[in-house]
Amino acid sequence: MPETKPSQMSPTQEAGVLQAFPIAKARPAPSRLVQLSDPHLFAEPTGHLLGITTRSSFQAVIDLALAGRQAAHALILTGDLVHDESPAGYRYLRQALEKTGLPYYCIAGNHDRRDLMKKYLGSAAVEPLGIRRLNSWNLIFLDSLDPGRNSGRLDRTHLDRLVELLSDDKAPTLLFLHHHPKPIQSAWMDTMGAENGADLLGICERNSQVKAVVFGHIHQAFSSSQGDCRILGTPSTCIQFLPGSVDFALDAHPPGYRELTIYPDGRLATRVERLVELVELPIPHAEGY
Ligand SMILES: [Fe+2]
Repeated sequence: MPETKPSQMSPTQEAGVLQAFPIAKARPAPSRLVQLSDPHLFAEPTGHLLGITTRSSFQAVIDLALAGRQAAHALILTGDLVHDESPAGYRYLRQALEKTGLPYYCIAGNHDRRDLMKKYLGSAAVEPLGIRRLNSWNLIFLDSLDPGRNSGRLDRTHLDRLVELLSDDKAPTLLFLHHHPKPIQSAWMDTMGAENGADLLGICERNSQVKAVVFGHIHQAFSSSQGDCRILGTPSTCIQFLPGSVDFALDAHPPGYRELTIYPDGRLATRVERLVELVELPIPHAEGY
C-alpha cells in the first residue's frame, strides 16, 4: 500500500493535525535603540577632555552597546558631538557611525555647529524638528541649541508644530533633545537647561502617546516623570558630572549609554549601561571644562 502523502490527507485529517499541534502566533518583535550622548570629539585622535581621550571612550561605549546578543536597530546621538568645532571631528564621527552599519540620527548640542553637522553628517543631522518612523513608533527630534549660549531654547514655531504633529498622529512616541527640560537639582547645571522646557513637558503631559522625553547635556543618568511621560537623562560617552552638585564637579562613574526598547504595543523599557572600568581617569579636582 502506497504511503499517504500530506497532500492526500482529507481536510478533516489536516484540521486534526492542526488542532493537535497548534501553531503559536509570532509576537511582533520590539526594537532596541541605543542613545549615545555628549561624545565631545576632537579633530586630533588623541584629543582629550579633562583626562579622557574622547574618541577612545566613545568607541569603547559603542562596542559595549553593540556587543550583546540583542541587536540594535538604530543609534541616536543627543548632541555635543564635537568639542572643538572641527570638520575632522565630524568626519571621524561619521566614519565611526557608518562602521556600525546601523541607521543613526544626530541632534545638536551647545558645543555643536549646525552647518558642520549638515555638511559632514548629511541627512543623519536631523532637521530642527525631525520625525522618523520606526515600526509602530514615532521618534521626534527637537533642536534646543541656542547659538553662543550653554543653555538651550526651543523655538516657539517648533513647539507649535509639535502640537500639530501630536494631535494628528497618536502613535507611541519618543522625543529627543539635547538640553534637560526640567531642573535636575544640580545648581550649576540647572543654569543651563532648556529655558522653556516646561512648555515642552506641558505638551507631553497633554499627549499621552509621548512615552518619554530623552536628553543628554547633563553627563549623568537621570530619571523622573511628568504625568505618564518619563523624563530621562543619559551619561556622556566621556566625562561624567556629579549628580546633585552645587558647583561643577566630576563623577567617578565610567562612561555609558542608554538603551531604549520599544514594543509594538506602546510599552517602553529602558536602562543605562556603563563601561565596567575606566581606562583613563578624569583629572581630579577639575573646576570646569
Ligand atoms: Fe556635553
